[in-house]
Amino acid sequence: MTVTSMPTQLTEAELKLLQALVYQECGMHFDERRTHFLQDRLQRRLRECQLDSFYSYYRLLISPEGKDELARLLENLTINETSFFRNKAQLDLFHKYALEDLLQRKREQHEYSLRIWSAGCSTGQEPYTIAMLVVDALAYYYLRHPLPYDLPSPRPLIPPPWRIEILASDISYSALRMAQQAIYNENQMSSVDYNYRLRYFDKVGERYAVKKALKELVHFDFHNLKTEFLPQHNDAIFCRNVMMYFDEAEQKRLIEKFWRCMKPSGYLFVGHAESLLGLTDKFVMVHRNSGTAYQHVEAES
Ligand SMILES: C[S@@+](CC[C@H](N)C(=O)[O-])C[C@H]1O[C@@H](n2cnc3c(N)ncnc32)[C@H](O)[C@@H]1O
Repeated sequence: MTVTSMPTQLTEAELKLLQALVYQECGMHFDERRTHFLQDRLQRRLRECQLDSFYSYYRLLISPEGKDELARLLENLTINETSFFRNKAQLDLFHKYALEDLLQRKREQHEYSLRIWSAGCSTGQEPYTIAMLVVDALAYYYLRHPLPYDLPSPRPLIPPPWRIEILASDISYSALRMAQQAIYNENQMSSVDYNYRLRYFDKVGERYAVKKALKELVHFDFHNLKTEFLPQHNDAIFCRNVMMYFDEAEQKRLIEKFWRCMKPSGYLFVGHAESLLGLTDKFVMVHRNSGTAYQHVEAES
């Protein structure tokens, strides 16, 4: 097939087919405001694949041989913008209210484990922020409820008998690779204050590497939120700045899935521009000092 340097025309029908395919595969909805972005990314992929029509590209995507290309396209369509300590007011609510509540309830039930999921973790800043806050919350907790024995030196980040699992997932393999590397430049570190830099990062040349002990608290995995097979039994789920790319029907489906993936009275954190209002009655809003979260409500039997 011949490839010209001129952009290939994308017809209305081809656009609809490709929009529907992307929606079906990952839930991302490209309305009129975002059609231009979709067209631009499709043009790029078409050139890379050296195809001369969008219909042939569509045929490739739906064929068994097109699996890798489909993953590549979805990767090209995601927005990976993120930062450490994003939405400070909400993280304060998590740290000072939700974690306090969870640790207290767990202690009463003699169940010393916490499972937190960062769904749509991008390049890792969100789950590492969560890890730092959990370590701090546990340290403060032990200050008030000392253990009846001395901890070995150096003190472990997570004092026994607690087990902390932070699962972080994304649909973008390249974002996950960067998250696993856990090395950030000065720009990316701008929202990390010196106290946190000193305790949780090593300076490597001009960049900062997350210290091994903190890194080990976070496990990364590929998960497409569009699917039904999602991590279960979470005490808290962070899914921030992801749902905003889905339409209302897909948002409702995702919230329902999160509800099923959560332990009773667990907490769901969504982005600043996102809300569960009018979408569900299975969560109640919790609001503290400008921070907002949603708490799981048990279904009535
Ligand atoms: C804007 S980033 C948000 C990162 C982080 N949660 C935050 O708020 O800083 C959105 C992330 O959601 C991921 N994403 C989009 N659609 C997804 C899907 N269907 N399943 C899993 N992750 C998805 C993207 O790859 C991207 O890394």
